[in-house]
Amino acid sequence: MKYQLADGQSADAQGLPLLAVAVPKQAQKALPEALRDYDARAGGALARLFTSGDFTGARDDTAMVYLDGEATRRLLLVGTGKPEDVSRTSVRRAAAIAGRRAKALGTGSVAFAMPAALRGSLGAGDLGQVAVEGMAQGSWQFDELKTKGNDNNNEKKPPVGAITVVVDAAEQQEAAAGFAIGRAMAEGQALARRLQFLPPNRCTPGFLAETAQELGTRHAFAVTVLDRAQIEQEGMGALLAVAQGSETEPRFVTIEYRGAGDAQPVALVGKGITFDTGGISIKPAQAMEDMKYDMSGAAAVLGALEIVGRLKPKLNVVGVIPSADNMPSGRAIRPADVVKSHFGKFIEIVNTDAEGRLILADALSYVRRFKPACVLDAATLTGAALFVTGHVATPIMGNDEALLDEVRKAGERAGERCWPLPMYDEFRELNKSDIADVKNSGGRPAGTITAGWFLREFVDGYPWVHLDVAGTAYTESDSPPLAKGPAGVPTRLFAEFLLARAG
Ligand code: BES
Ligand code: MN
Ligand code: ZN
Repeated sequence: MKYQLADGQSADAQGLPLLAVAVPKQAQKALPEALRDYDARAGGALARLFTSGDFTGARDDTAMVYLDGEATRRLLLVGTGKPEDVSRTSVRRAAAIAGRRAKALGTGSVAFAMPAALRGSLGAGDLGQVAVEGMAQGSWQFDELKTKGNDNNNEKKPPVGAITVVVDAAEQQEAAAGFAIGRAMAEGQALARRLQFLPPNRCTPGFLAETAQELGTRHAFAVTVLDRAQIEQEGMGALLAVAQGSETEPRFVTIEYRGAGDAQPVALVGKGITFDTGGISIKPAQAMEDMKYDMSGAAAVLGALEIVGRLKPKLNVVGVIPSADNMPSGRAIRPADVVKSHFGKFIEIVNTDAEGRLILADALSYVRRFKPACVLDAATLTGAALFVTGHVATPIMGNDEALLDEVRKAGERAGERCWPLPMYDEFRELNKSDIADVKNSGGRPAGTITAGWFLREFVDGYPWVHLDVAGTAYTESDSPPLAKGPAGVPTRLFAEFLLARAG
């Protein structure tokens, strides 16, 4: 992807196939003053759109105008909704709608502008960042495995290969700082989405490990990959238990970035189940294919490290990815098996479909050796998360109020919202086993919280927050700013968290 930050003049000179202009909802049926120049270029068409009431700037509303005799061919008005709601989130959303339109039309590129007079208190830096993030989000596509296009004409539309943010000359410098962040965010998010979307016969634990190694080469990270034998030597009995049912080899990956000498690192842990059949406690066939997304936590860790590698913030980061395939077979774990975890606690496996918490238990135990300043884990952990906050927000849990707050704020900035769930002791009780220290399922009630409590049994000596992204990492239907499929959540949240920590 090509990214550029341009002022109005240079953008016009080169000509833009599609320039989106974001506009908040107007109280009067009249052309906003700030669009006067655009209107002149459009021969008065913008004014007519506003005075007719056909376009008001309502959220997600769009209107396309074709320019005559200009290198810039299309002007797309995109509404951001109530003026008091102009924010990073609403502007990112408008940019994403523009990106989606460019992708659908096959314009090959997309540009976005929002005049300062229409932006309220949103600064040029934030605009530069979220405009890039949004356009990248909306125009993202994956067609490596299609030999022909999706349309009836059987031709692939050209992908969006260039993203331009148009900002007045006076605001260029301020915008540039945000633009650089947005660009890194876009690349990290795209990496995560690609990994999520790849099918499970390609995106295996080995493939995730190779991706980590490739990141390591490009950004000078120290990458360690443990294979099955080494995982065994480490005593990761819970990860091994999940992996034992599959021919596919597990991996345990750590990625270390040093940006601050020997300061304690922030550790990011991501669930890397490359396919979750449920194992012997097998899932119904309905939508089982979506379980290729069960490595979304791992994808977000890799995406966040891509961003870190590009921006080089002043802190240390460790990415940890336990990865396996959850399959039924003659060697698979049975419901009732008891295994010894890396931490030392014995786990009764009452449901082989509660495998994510098993592999995370060993990772949360292993991560202690890095003496982390804090640990965030992301996992598509429970279907129950969808009953809590749907696709709208990510339920979070943890052992440290301040850290929960920090994560929530990072989520707000990223446009990847989170909401905390309570970790009352009563929920912990539900995971009590008759035979072992803990069992891996507390039953149906409060399934998201009991899963969180299971993880907490293996957390020791560091502040920790768990993000259950089962409802937010991917979607099953289109929304205006996002096509159905992988969303890359919580890649940007992770990165915002790290950038804020680095100061
Ligand atoms: N990967 C699933 C959770 C999931 C379900 C994510 C649907 C996204 C959509 C996880 O491994 C799982 O199977 N969890 C079980 C736990 C239960 C057996 C205690 C669940 O949620 O049903
Ligand atoms: Mn499962
Ligand atoms: Zn799973």
